[in-house]
Amino acid sequence: MTHPISDRYAVIGNPIEQSKSPLIHTAFAQVMGQVIHYTKLLAPLDGFAAAVDAFRASGGRGMNVTAPFKLDAFAYATDLAPSAQMAGAVNAMKFEGDKVYAENFDGVGLVRDVVHNLQCPLKGRRVLILGAGGATRGALLPLLAEHPAELVIVNRTVAKAQELAALAQQHQSGQVPVVGLGYEAVQGVFDVVLNASSSSLSAELPPLPASVFRPGCLAYDLTYGKGLTPFLKLAQQAGVTHLADGVGMLAEQAAEAFAWWRGVRPDTAAVIQKLTVPLV
Ligand code: ATR
Repeated sequence: MTHPISDRYAVIGNPIEQSKSPLIHTAFAQVMGQVIHYTKLLAPLDGFAAAVDAFRASGGRGMNVTAPFKLDAFAYATDLAPSAQMAGAVNAMKFEGDKVYAENFDGVGLVRDVVHNLQCPLKGRRVLILGAGGATRGALLPLLAEHPAELVIVNRTVAKAQELAALAQQHQSGQVPVVGLGYEAVQGVFDVVLNASSSSLSAELPPLPASVFRPGCLAYDLTYGKGLTPFLKLAQQAGVTHLADGVGMLAEQAAEAFAWWRGVRPDTAAVIQKLTVPLV
């Protein structure tokens, strides 16, 4: 089967076999009546730019970017959206002539999943986010745009949490209080607790006091497909019933990219249902 050259997309990573992006975008295209050809592209660790060059030369219109290339894509882009600048990383690119437009939809995807899909408004709420790496960095501005009462960043390496808090304060002129703390310094209860650390990838438990979970709160792990992670188990044992992993975030960031490329935004419910791995 041949495909119109203008409708080629890909996700690039190393490894790439695990990526759900082709399944998601193909499903979106089907529902929206669009013809796209979306593939997985495995690039050598030192061969990101060459692989993207070749894809563009063959007519590729856009790409999703996954580990370990989000920083390479940041360097490769000619035009960085504010979301990518703030995150310091790129997860979607659009190619137009010599231009490489770059975005990072992970943060908006997370917030859309929490607020819209999980029906958990952030306005006026106390929000705690674990980790001070790329995932937290990308989530900061979309979280703050919802006007929580307070955003607390907690990290093992306290200086990194403080740096991100200062960065966030700078970007929104201190409208929402943002603080960076070590785990031992976290006080009070939170309405939304987000695990944006990479602890769940290695099945580790962040050193979080179980007292942070307010009854009725949402505990959300940004990782996808790991079932009941140690973080979610901690929340469950503390009595939290509203538990979620990052399947909705995955689908929502993809929907944002699809809308950016194609001009129409697909509904994500069917994809989320298809990709959901039970939290057991
Ligand atoms: P990502 O891009 O996924 O955010 P990263 O930039 O490497 O990945 O950041 C990983 C984050 O997870 C860091 O904040 C790290 O904490 P440190 O800065 O103290 O290293 C955090 N992290 C990793 N494993 C963790 C664990 N077992 N418990 C708590 N935090 C952990």
